[in-house]
Amino acid sequence: MRPFIHVNCAMSADGKLAGDDRTQVRISSDEDKTRVKTMRKKYDAILVGVGTVIADNPHLTFKDGDYDTNPIRIVLDPHGRTPEDALVLDERAPTVMVTLEDCDVEWDCEEIIRAGKDEIDLDAVLEELADFGIENVLVEGGGRTIASFFRAGLVDRYSVFIGSLVIGGSNAPTPCDGDGWVRESGIKMDLEDCEVLGNGALLTFKPRF
Ligand SMILES: NC(=O)c1ccc[n+]([C@@H]2O[C@H](COP(=O)([O-])OP(=O)(O)OC[C@H]3O[C@@H](n4cnc5c(N)ncnc54)[C@H](OP(=O)(O)O)[C@@H]3O)[C@@H](O)[C@H]2O)c1
Repeated sequence: MRPFIHVNCAMSADGKLAGDDRTQVRISSDEDKTRVKTMRKKYDAILVGVGTVIADNPHLTFKDGDYDTNPIRIVLDPHGRTPEDALVLDERAPTVMVTLEDCDVEWDCEEIIRAGKDEIDLDAVLEELADFGIENVLVEGGGRTIASFFRAGLVDRYSVFIGSLVIGGSNAPTPCDGDGWVRESGIKMDLEDCEVLGNGALLTFKPRF
């Protein structure tokens, strides 16, 4: 069985994930930050796209975690753009790099999965992750990565924190970026929960694929 996929992100009140130059903007309230830190501990793996690695250089670990207790970090990087000194490749947790079959870039990491010719074959990747014993994955962004999971019908839960700020900019990333697509009238979802977390709100949806 493929792993459970939970997509989580934080957007501004005008629907942006970051600035239009892709710089990180503080969107989450303190309460949401605490929620995300606690939530990370419950997942076997945390996944981001290479765009987030390059823009934010995240650790994707939790403060008191170590190599054995942190979730596995997964980076979708079809063309091998993740620099060797990216923090996501440090010693604080195992890292799985996912790239295309014909990408010959090597990284010093736990595992490299090469899946797909023109684009990453997410079904094949999830099958391989299930073979490693990964039962659930937290997808943290960015917009193009989240869109690829929605497009493939591979989102089991979508939670989005809406912060009380406006970022603006038609080029600023949004939670579902990349080439647009219309599937009837979008992917319908059921709203499962709505919670005020400090000066913002957390919405949790279950997509209906
Ligand atoms: N507010 C939040 O919660 C939050 C969370 C995370 C990130 N962010 C922000 O989001 C921005 C980054 O978003 P982004 O959309 O530019 O980058 P991204 O989604 O992190 O990475 C996109 C890149 O990853 C690769 N990729 C992702 N999914 C793929 C798939 N299924 N198949 C093949 N390749 C795939 C592609 O690489 P190639 O380009 O090499 O083909 C793609 O261009 C940053 O500004 C960051 O600060 C915000």
